[in-house]
Amino acid sequence: MKIIMLGAPGAGKGTQAKMIAEKYSVPHVSTGDIFRANIKEGTELGKEVKSYMDQGLLVPDELTVRILLDRVSREDCKNGYILDGFPRTIPQAEVLEQELAKREEAIDFAIDVEVPDEEIIGRMTGRRACAGCGATYHVVHIPPRQEGICDACGKELILRDDDKLETVKKRLAVYHEQTQPLIEFYTEKGILRTIDGTAPMQEVFTVIETILGE
Ligand code: AP5
Repeated sequence: MKIIMLGAPGAGKGTQAKMIAEKYSVPHVSTGDIFRANIKEGTELGKEVKSYMDQGLLVPDELTVRILLDRVSREDCKNGYILDGFPRTIPQAEVLEQELAKREEAIDFAIDVEVPDEEIIGRMTGRRACAGCGATYHVVHIPPRQEGICDACGKELILRDDDKLETVKKRLAVYHEQTQPLIEFYTEKGILRTIDGTAPMQEVFTVIETILGE
């Protein structure tokens, strides 16, 4: 099973991708998580991508595609995967399609999680991420037991640099311009499934289960 999660930044792609990965036993591959891990470890890749991410811009296609293809060529992806945050441009989608075609493979579903921009802004500026284990919270909807402290590992909760209001607005503009055209791209391939991402997380997941089957 090969699935792509589409949707604006903060639509809930990562939240649902983790739930799908657990239920269907396929790896959750997030280009954003790969980049953030490299920034945290101070690698050359991390240094290269940080300025793009902090400004709310996309990392260049050539670099992103290389990282993604390397990740999905690993052993744990041989029975499928969920791509969260990739592809984000038509050129990325085309390279992915060509690479899969070489192996006589294809994406099964592209799931578009729809959420209006105003709700996205509230979600992201309220999101807090654990600096230690990466768990995510929301100051109103999913507060930690103790303010500013991760329930899971006790480390500090931080506001991602790219979740600051001005950067969120920039990311939304980039999404509408560069990523939204993928909706038409996958509609034409007959694999797009659109779901309402404003429903509670478990309800959104139930709809996804209906699409993917038990
Ligand atoms: P990335 O990490 O992919 O960020 P994003 O797409 O902007 O997505 P997010 O992780 O912010 O949101 P999400 O949709 O996963 O939502 P989440 O589940 O966390 O990318 C970051 C950056 O890396 C990019 O800006 C770019 O620079 C670079 N990059 C990455 N991939 C790239 C690519 N392919 N090409 C070029 N550059 C790339 O949920 C958000 C919040 O909402 C959470 O607080 C959550 O708890 C809450 N929430 C989730 N679901 C619900 C619900 N149903 N109801 C209420 N709250 C909910």
